[in-house]
Amino acid sequence: MADYVLAIDQGTTSSRAIVFDHAGTIVSTGQMEHEQFLPRAGWVEHDPEEIWRNVREVVGLALTRGNLTHRDIAAVGITNQRETTVVWDKNTGKPVYKAIVWQDTRTQKIVEELGGSEGADKYKQKVGLPLATYFSGPKIKWILDNVEGAREKAEAGDLVFGNTDTWVLWNMTGGTDGGVHVTDVTNASRTMLMNIDSLTWNEDIARDMGIPVSMLPEIRSSSEVYGKGREGGMVPGVPIAGILGDQQAATFGQACFEVGSAKNTYGTGNFLLLNTGTELVHSKNGLLTTVGYKIGDQPQVYCLEGSIAVTGSLVQWLRDNLGLIGSAPEVEELAKQVDDNGGAYFVPAFSGLFAPYWRADARGALVGLTRYVNKGHIARAVLEATAFQSREVVDAMNADSGVNLTELKVDGGMIANETLMQFQADILGVPVVRPKVAETTALGAAYAAGIAVGFWKGEQDVVDNWAEDKRWEPSMDVEQRDKTYRNWKKAVTKTFDWVD
Ligand code: G3P
Repeated sequence: MADYVLAIDQGTTSSRAIVFDHAGTIVSTGQMEHEQFLPRAGWVEHDPEEIWRNVREVVGLALTRGNLTHRDIAAVGITNQRETTVVWDKNTGKPVYKAIVWQDTRTQKIVEELGGSEGADKYKQKVGLPLATYFSGPKIKWILDNVEGAREKAEAGDLVFGNTDTWVLWNMTGGTDGGVHVTDVTNASRTMLMNIDSLTWNEDIARDMGIPVSMLPEIRSSSEVYGKGREGGMVPGVPIAGILGDQQAATFGQACFEVGSAKNTYGTGNFLLLNTGTELVHSKNGLLTTVGYKIGDQPQVYCLEGSIAVTGSLVQWLRDNLGLIGSAPEVEELAKQVDDNGGAYFVPAFSGLFAPYWRADARGALVGLTRYVNKGHIARAVLEATAFQSREVVDAMNADSGVNLTELKVDGGMIANETLMQFQADILGVPVVRPKVAETTALGAAYAAGIAVGFWKGEQDVVDNWAEDKRWEPSMDVEQRDKTYRNWKKAVTKTFDWVD
């Protein structure tokens, strides 16, 4: 068997390809950012064709840099930004509209109308999710309602939907020439269209949203052979054998297989997932019930998830919209120029507030300002916002599960920021633990694909390969921690009721 597994990570800001060896070590990588289209306040779009071009490019880069060809690759795993919605014509392969990104809030009216007198929890028992702009179903409806001719074409069976996993897989396996139209249970669990118990499309909800079920991909497990790379493509004949939404992939790559184990990924947003085992738990505290993973024919494993829309993207905003820093890592240098936040709190409710509030009417606020506050304090408030939001989600998880989290595994780009990691441990009051391989999202997808083809035996290999790199112990005194967290909570209330 070939010696390596390739993972494609189609994320919110970039697409990456990473080659892993049997020890789960990175061999080579390729990465390209794609354009963020922000045509109106609250709207966020990507160009699916640019994404597909970049995916091809980064796979080529990773193979070349590793001195490899497709013959060295035993299997390919795909992981992706979840919920982001692509609708395309299966006869031409052309998207009918740009991809509507998970952060986009344009579906707020649709969501309110769907909820009607029953409100946001109308479908929660069936799909595990509150009605919110975040999820794919209402985004598909928006495209069918607003793109000329789309509904007729969809009803005639010409249009298909996919998140970016499905879009990449369909193109990789042949596109208009026999492309496979499939997704996995984790991505499907973010559409609001999949029944969270039976893992099948819920036809009643699809009907309520006016979405023909024929548009939806077939739902499969997270680890099985879906198809092979097309001839003439970048990995001809190589089995594509793993798909996991990026947060579930990180949970898998972090070896969170025990009930009660949890990880927090610090990316564009933050996503904290807690393994609840084969029994699904409905949250009473603003968390989502989601599928964690399903390996082939084995029973699915569920998670509770706390999704935070804006964390790392607040640092990008500081760089791109305010020009306060020249590059993302500079935020730490700036924050280190001061001892504390100087009384400033920044609540980045740019896409409303996700967990645990689910307030589409919220908008960002920077509060507690005096003439004393300088840009160092603001940089610090930006970093602290990530940690405070994560604390709110941990509180909700502790309340839902009745068990207090004893340590938190972390991954994602922002974990390189030591100031943030120390503050996170301080504000949670539990240790924060970073693994040796921080690319756990890509690694998780690689494991799912490798397990499907026998490259790895199973979850025990993932556990054996996982190794701790660094641990931050809480050191803030409890009184100070409680005071600053109380202030944060007060700041959050200032963001409500900004949109009618
Ligand atoms: O639910 C959205 C999430 O999957 C996006 O993750 O890492 O691309 O920001 P990321």
